Amino acid sequence: MFEALPVQPVDPILALMEAYGGDTRPGKIDLGIGVYRNAAGVTPVMRAVKAAEERLWREQETKSYIGFLGDAAFNDAMTGLVLGDAIPRANVAAAATPGGTGAVRQAFEAIQAANPVARVFISDPSWVNHASMLDHLGLARSYYRYFDPETRGVAFDAMMADLQAVKAGDVVLLHGCCHNPTGADLNPVEWQAVRDLIADRGALAMIDLAYMGLGDGVEEDAALVRGMVSGLPECLIAVSCSKNFGLYRDRAGLLIATAQDPALQGRLKGTLAHLNRQNFSFPPDHATRTVSTILQDDALRADWQAELTEMRGRINGVRRALADELQRLTGSDRFHFLAQHRGMFSRLGATPDQIRYLRDEHAVYMVGDSRMNVAGLTEAAVPVLAQAIVDAGL
Ligand code: LMR
Repeated sequence: MFEALPVQPVDPILALMEAYGGDTRPGKIDLGIGVYRNAAGVTPVMRAVKAAEERLWREQETKSYIGFLGDAAFNDAMTGLVLGDAIPRANVAAAATPGGTGAVRQAFEAIQAANPVARVFISDPSWVNHASMLDHLGLARSYYRYFDPETRGVAFDAMMADLQAVKAGDVVLLHGCCHNPTGADLNPVEWQAVRDLIADRGALAMIDLAYMGLGDGVEEDAALVRGMVSGLPECLIAVSCSKNFGLYRDRAGLLIATAQDPALQGRLKGTLAHLNRQNFSFPPDHATRTVSTILQDDALRADWQAELTEMRGRINGVRRALADELQRLTGSDRFHFLAQHRGMFSRLGATPDQIRYLRDEHAVYMVGDSRMNVAGLTEAAVPVLAQAIVDAGL
């Protein structure tokens, strides 16, 4: 039977991670998969995570099953972190999921269950797995233009023009902050315009919130999401704790569904529980319990916030240093966008030949669309990378 299996395409981000691992050149630079690294080039376990895990190890007395929606303490704490008091809890349903990818997947399945002919509008470009998961499920997708290759900012007029095609029952998928792969984010006024368009059309807003706290701050990043939720009848929000809690491999995520009609809460909870049951029964618990332990304890929460602030500061410092070095080398401010982008990624705008050159000649690894994980860069690597970018003819 197995010979009938179709050969699956290689995931470009994972393939790059493997290629980098196999490169023996000293000084190689990994700008591939989206993980944060500190000044020493290490992806640390955050201090508050270590402390919470230690407490769990000491105090946890059972690992028996909980429920299909996961641990209520995690769901409540994360819902509070994301939504604040933007809408009453009676209008919210939430389910823990294996990471942010799990939340996106369950959101797509909920959309499919509610409206099998929905079209999901995703940004061009978007995280590679958005299109891949939609195709896997057989959900229709459309693209809206998003990135201006000249300014390396958001092509807002083009985006709005493309979103004119959205109809009632369609879905507009937005990145909550730190757009992956471009690093270019909508400003608050643009968010409002997108929200008004979605409301006018009777469409559903879905927000992928994988980097909350790594853009401009937890509250600042959440404010944009809250504006959508309080201004729209229904929303889906896929939240990841992979990056902002550094829990990547442990898989903590949350799917939030909001509805202005509180009578829908029971239906939504039942749907999210059913979808979890069909796919994996119970969501992973250890990482979500680590998160709720942190968020419910004032000292751990403050330490987590402080370390997250350090991380964001380092990323933005590296962004500025790289932009400054490129300005020094080229005498032009055309790389200024690197300092303006937010989150881990920036799309450099290199051609496939230039990306190959950077890899072959300078051992610089970035994704094939020239997405760079700036958060992977040490300070020592900044001038090396800047020189390589100039040598590549950018
Ligand atoms: C990325 O885009 O590099 C991360 O979100 C990791 C992933 O799952 O692709």
